[in-house]
Amino acid sequence: MKEMLNQIRATALEKIAAGEDLEQIRIQYLGKKGELTAVLRGMGKLSAEERPVIGQLANQVREEIEAAVAEKAEAQKAAALQEQLKAERLDVTMPGKTTRVGHVHPLTRVQRDMEEIFIGMGFSIAEGPEVEYDLYNFQKLNIPENHPARDTQDTFYITENILLRSQTSPVQARTMEVQKPPIRIISPGRVYRSDAMDATHSPLFHQMEGLVVDKGITMGDLKGMLETFAKAQFGEETRCRFRPHHFPFTEPSAEVDVSCFACGGKGCRLCKGEGWIEILGAGMVHPNVLTMCGIDPEEYSGFAFGMGIERIAMLKYHVDDIRLFYENDVRFLEQF
Ligand code: DAH
Repeated sequence: MKEMLNQIRATALEKIAAGEDLEQIRIQYLGKKGELTAVLRGMGKLSAEERPVIGQLANQVREEIEAAVAEKAEAQKAAALQEQLKAERLDVTMPGKTTRVGHVHPLTRVQRDMEEIFIGMGFSIAEGPEVEYDLYNFQKLNIPENHPARDTQDTFYITENILLRSQTSPVQARTMEVQKPPIRIISPGRVYRSDAMDATHSPLFHQMEGLVVDKGITMGDLKGMLETFAKAQFGEETRCRFRPHHFPFTEPSAEVDVSCFACGGKGCRLCKGEGWIEILGAGMVHPNVLTMCGIDPEEYSGFAFGMGIERIAMLKYHVDDIRLFYENDVRFLEQF
């Protein structure tokens, strides 16, 4: 029997060392129907002297096999962990994948800068619809049906009296209709004209409108406010020049130039040798417009102005083709 036990021990330990299935080994040797149990069951036939000796040996064999199984299981677990760590290894020194972070479009940038300047002077922002009634785009701005001024702003008609607004000026009329003076608003937004696309024209562009209405507003207020804007936008040394002009919704009307901020007024390529650059249209709100919008021109007066945001952006960044703003070529956009 002693030999049988030694034999069991030897083969069991060998199988464990060889890496055979541990659960299988446990059942085969230590289980209820296992080999060791079978030997112990035969102990009854032994003499009284032999029994404790064999019993002790059997216990020893059991403990050794149990210990070997446990040790092997432990080793296998550790090996598996090592294997996993190796497979899932991270090289933290590897160069990362950079995500390209964008920024606002240059037109948005310029629009926000302009808004900032006017908000600083106490203006608030008013919005109006891009799909507009003829009534607001033209009629309430003193441009009746068949008025020749419509020709310069031919646009896209949805129906006979609904169109894509050709200017931001309708927001003036909409604001005056619902708000009593004092009024001090700017209105940036998209406008549309059926112009062919070229370096300086686009069927869609952006304007910023301004309107101030209160008691005792004069052309002096308009000049002072526009000069403050021009200096903030183009630099402290900037001067303004008012040239007489005609707009149906203002009287008197002016076109406003700023001294060229590239050459200081001497004449250069940017100002085409003029020393001055035209930036906007403006004037005193026509009494007819005030009346049509429910404001008494005997009591109140006001000024208005309108400028192209693309134009300001092109001047500021020396962009010589308006189309660059709409093509979304990253090589252009990333320069801002
Ligand atoms: N709406 C004019 C245009 O698109 C610009 C303009 C001129 C707006 C004079 C005004 C203004 O408010 O007073 O050409």
